[in-house]
Amino acid sequence: EKDGYDWFMRKEIFEQPRAVTDALLGRHSETGRLQLDEVRISEDELREVDRIVIIGCGTANYSGLVAKYAVEHWTRVPCEVELAHEFRYRDPILTRNTLVVAISQSGETADTLMAIRHAREQNAKVLAICNTNGSTIPRESDAVIYTHAGPEIAVASTKGFITQMIACYLLGLYLAQVRGTMYGDEIAAVVDELRRIPGHVEGELAKAEEVYALARDLSAAPAVLFLGRHAGFPIALEGALKLKELAYIHAEGFAAGELKHGPIALVEDGLPIFCIVPPRGRDQLHAKMLSAIQEVRARGARTIVLAEEGDTEVGSYADTVLSLPRVPTLLQPLVAVVPLQLFGCELATLLGNDVDQPRNLAKSVTVE
Ligand code: F6R
Repeated sequence: EKDGYDWFMRKEIFEQPRAVTDALLGRHSETGRLQLDEVRISEDELREVDRIVIIGCGTANYSGLVAKYAVEHWTRVPCEVELAHEFRYRDPILTRNTLVVAISQSGETADTLMAIRHAREQNAKVLAICNTNGSTIPRESDAVIYTHAGPEIAVASTKGFITQMIACYLLGLYLAQVRGTMYGDEIAAVVDELRRIPGHVEGELAKAEEVYALARDLSAAPAVLFLGRHAGFPIALEGALKLKELAYIHAEGFAAGELKHGPIALVEDGLPIFCIVPPRGRDQLHAKMLSAIQEVRARGARTIVLAEEGDTEVGSYADTVLSLPRVPTLLQPLVAVVPLQLFGCELATLLGNDVDQPRNLAKSVTVE
């Protein structure tokens, strides 16, 4: 049932074009209006929402961090992202106008379940983003967007994560439509970009061998760092989490702007650092990221730079370039995560680890 792959994880990475297609299916009507029919919260109630709080654990938390950039930009509603277990036990401020978005692949994570029970007791509205039909978290929520990734068997989340991000983008666009913060054609333009993602991911998977060669090169690295900025920051965290889980090596993700506030002290000769470069645009993100890369490289880091194709500026800062398809900044996480998943899977394979069942981990964490 692994379809000829050595691991479920690798199979699930390669299923992502199909998973993203399914996650988008039927959400956009012929008339151009987005429809999320599993949202059983009225449009009037959604117009009254004055705060969004996204909760989840592990990788699901990172998809929430990605969502924040798009959701606030598109809806102008303040959006916080918090680990479900931290949220639950700190007496959070919730009202009937708070929309709590609970993200969980399994739908059974106890930390997230306890948090939504607490939120509903305080009259907040709860929307679940979940991959498992009929699981506990969607059953106990006011609304659910299913991610339609299909069963995820490997402990490390891949297609679960990419489809969580898709669901978050759809939710952001839906709220923007209901609240009138975006024009219909602006929404349609983003939906078009989302529809191109499966093809983009397909193209990246066709180049998997480049990433595997890099994994062979770096298989003896005792530690790996990941740098990102803006929506690329949570992807740095996700890249690092994959290495911790699968390769059991010390890996950390940092916001590039944070380097000089501490982490740059870690940099020494030969330390591999993955750097996720935002697309070139009117903002200064691209230039800022390049100067961060220059700083770590001047201190001996080995830089693996993920940048959009045609970005000729990164060449002089990179020991290795992994090129990404061209997409808008807010959607770049969808394509930036793919090489990092391939890298984690391949490195763990080379180290002889059990990729599908990493030590000490369970697929679904049903105790707090
Ligand atoms: C990462 C991973 C975990 C889960 C986390 C939440 O690869 O598998 O970090 O993402 O335990 O699980 P769900 O999404 O099922 O609530």
